[in-house]
Amino acid sequence: MERTMRTPIIAGNWKLNKTISEAVALTTALRASVADVNGVEIIVAPPFTALAAVSDAIAGSNICLSAQDVYSEDSGAFTGEVSAPMLKDVGCDYVIIGHSERRQYFGETNESVNQKVKAALAHDLKPIICVGELLEERETGRTEAVIEDHVTGGIVGLSAAELLSCVIAYEPVWAIGTGKTATPDQAQEVHNFIRGLLAKSHSVETASQLCIQYGGSVKPENTAELMAQPDVDGALVGGASLEAESFAQIVKMAVSRQ
Ligand code: PGA
Repeated sequence: MERTMRTPIIAGNWKLNKTISEAVALTTALRASVADVNGVEIIVAPPFTALAAVSDAIAGSNICLSAQDVYSEDSGAFTGEVSAPMLKDVGCDYVIIGHSERRQYFGETNESVNQKVKAALAHDLKPIICVGELLEERETGRTEAVIEDHVTGGIVGLSAAELLSCVIAYEPVWAIGTGKTATPDQAQEVHNFIRGLLAKSHSVETASQLCIQYGGSVKPENTAELMAQPDVDGALVGGASLEAESFAQIVKMAVSRQ
């Protein structure tokens, strides 16, 4: 498939880390480090409690705000949940949906992912839809089947325009937080497969415009070789996004991808 230029997107998923003061300190340091960076979309995804403070700390900068999850309903009797209008209200542009930890520990399914994606899009939030196989699934030759299930299940009913507001993050579960990154070839193979799925479900043109991030033990030392792959358009970074310096290094490496 012909490659078109897609602006790289580097997102930091802070997971269950950072108090408000820690979040503001990290954001302030990151803001200073990436102030001169152009041509890369930079996103931070703090926990819900720090969203408002981080939103203030990035005001007027080149950093965007994401949440780590969203509920599919806008309001009502759903104790403990946070809705898309609330995320928009606090300044989010993005929301991570279907992260493997949510699938593994909190019962997230393709169906709930799809409902959340639609709720996010209805409120002008860009979903970062996470997909990825377990080690056992890779070892038994089921990677493509799992990826197809996650991707097609997550985007059911989306128009081409809606799909283009989404980002897909390929995160092999065996590479998350393990220090074990997929090789650039392994990442490229799955990214290319995902683009093929989107070409089938929508069109080659739509598929060629969509940003597909890689995630799973991304760090400054492996960013360049991953980003050099033609279908790797960015990174979803966990551990290495918790320090301003390492995350800023990853962001800067993505610039050369342009
Ligand atoms: P990691 O996490 O970079 O710590 O492996 C990535 C993710 O889960 O998004």
